[in-house]
Amino acid sequence: MCGIFGYVGAKNNAGQLVVKGLKNLEYRGYDSWGVACKVGETAVVEKDIGKISSVDESQFSEECGMAIAHTRWATHGGVTPANAHPHLNASGTIAVVHNGIIENYQTLRDDLKTKGYAFKSETDTEVIPYMIEEEMKATDDFASAVRNACSKFDGRYGILAFHTESNTLVATRTGSPLIVGVGEEGYFIASDIPAFMEHTKVVQYLDDGEMLVTDGKSILFTDLETGQEHPKREIEITWSVEQAQKGEYAHFMLKEIMEQKDSIARAVNQDEQQIQVIADAIKNARGTFIIGCGTAHKACMAAEYFFSVVAEKHINVTSAGEFKVHHHFLKPESLLIVVSQSGETADSLEAMKIARGKGAKVLAITNAEGSTIDREADYTLLINAGPERAVASTKALTGQMAVLMLIAHTMVDKLHEGKTLLLETVSMINDMLNPRYVEHIESLAEEIQNTEDLYIIGKSWNYPMALESAIKIQEVSYIHAEGFAASELKHGPLALIEERTPCIALLGNDEVTPDIISNTIELKARGARTIGIAPENNEAFDEWIKVPDAGAAQAIVNIIPIQVFAYFLAVKRGMDPDMPRNLAKSVTVK
Ligand code: AGP
Ligand code: GLU
Repeated sequence: MCGIFGYVGAKNNAGQLVVKGLKNLEYRGYDSWGVACKVGETAVVEKDIGKISSVDESQFSEECGMAIAHTRWATHGGVTPANAHPHLNASGTIAVVHNGIIENYQTLRDDLKTKGYAFKSETDTEVIPYMIEEEMKATDDFASAVRNACSKFDGRYGILAFHTESNTLVATRTGSPLIVGVGEEGYFIASDIPAFMEHTKVVQYLDDGEMLVTDGKSILFTDLETGQEHPKREIEITWSVEQAQKGEYAHFMLKEIMEQKDSIARAVNQDEQQIQVIADAIKNARGTFIIGCGTAHKACMAAEYFFSVVAEKHINVTSAGEFKVHHHFLKPESLLIVVSQSGETADSLEAMKIARGKGAKVLAITNAEGSTIDREADYTLLINAGPERAVASTKALTGQMAVLMLIAHTMVDKLHEGKTLLLETVSMINDMLNPRYVEHIESLAEEIQNTEDLYIIGKSWNYPMALESAIKIQEVSYIHAEGFAASELKHGPLALIEERTPCIALLGNDEVTPDIISNTIELKARGARTIGIAPENNEAFDEWIKVPDAGAAQAIVNIIPIQVFAYFLAVKRGMDPDMPRNLAKSVTVK
């Protein structure tokens, strides 16, 4: 995980620039921060634990044209100032920031120790500057030393490094994303675009197994192994700076929940020919698999129901991290659908690699144009939700589900019917998300905030939404929440119910409604405090949150009040919903 950002060029406030820009990548990690500025022929380093948003960048006032910075999500070594990046070699001439994991760091560290290197941190990262130093014994060229050092690393990483005696910034990528912003006054290299969006919208992507070297005036991309030059295209991004800011909202999470009034409509507005090509590819595939992680995985689970009910087509769902086990079933005629907001999730990328290794085709459904998953897929459908900054995924989920619902309709020649259903749903969501509605949910959160446990039940496509509800509540409020298939209650979980345990039931207006009403009554009989999220009230509910009747799109509607509820539970409990503890937005490690 982690966010990294480096700059080299004609501007002379590189330290301030990278720290300010990195604040836009704080969602990638917020354990500690650090910056190294090349001032004359020394590396001036500042680092500490805590969030980068709390750092005043004006303190980095030295004139400096090159700097690298880091915001950490700790994987190896605790959250301490010593473990914060950048890491330097002993003489302080080589500065490194790193995103990812050097898997063979223990062997490398033991070897370096025998050569006299003394380690100051517990991180895997610290081997990098020492390995580069070792390689510099054989070459004067810093970039070549970085290349040679990288040939000894196993694992996934994005690295930014400089040497105090040269004015070049070197970046290498094996797994973790790095994107170059091409500015009039230099080059910006970051884990994600918002870091440099205020300076430039022209980008170049560093691909896996590549290296770049830049002195701020020109840039050279090469193959990390062979050194062969790789030509690059410049791409102009379409997001605006405002889209990536909080505006009038207290938190990104609330802003992004509210944006669903528009973002779902953007997801639905797909090129019809392209949707048709994809629907045909699924129809003709011999075995369609769909994978994702966390919330994206719940979109995949919902899609299993969409494809089954709307298109009468079976697709195989697994969480991306479990996909490896199923590789036996993949053939060149198979299709893998990868669902990912960020397009950079390590487990999803690995699943994609496995499928491609078997010759199968890959369809990406992502929010991140230019991400690795987008670039490596055979087909991509962008959900166009705009930047999602809160760690908790909200508008990306509903966009993913809308696109999957549209594909399911297209497979049975009902594209326009699907579009109409989804656009009507958007308009119902628009009416639903009014201030009074939000206040009602806020007051319920106020009452329930001190509960220790909370359960959510659903059936059919509301079952994956029950699981998703649990993730949302867990990750932002830290309340123990669990989702169940409603029919499973009596097979075990009912034993958990005590007097006034809050239990939420997600319902639509369809053939499973009577079943789930019965399950809710069973919960009530055991003393639960029942909350129905449903188009119609029922005596089974102690509390009722009304949702519009959206037919086959009910899952998309029902998750929205839960997102609002989770948000207010977090706020009432004094948590920061945008940056939950122990998590980060983009999980680029396995
Ligand atoms: C969602 O609220 C989570 N933070 C998380 O489960 C997320 O959905 C998951 O890590 C997948 O990310 P992706 O969509 O970027 O691949
Ligand atoms: N492994 C490095 C550390 O723990 C980088 C972490 C990351 O990229 O998530 O410091």
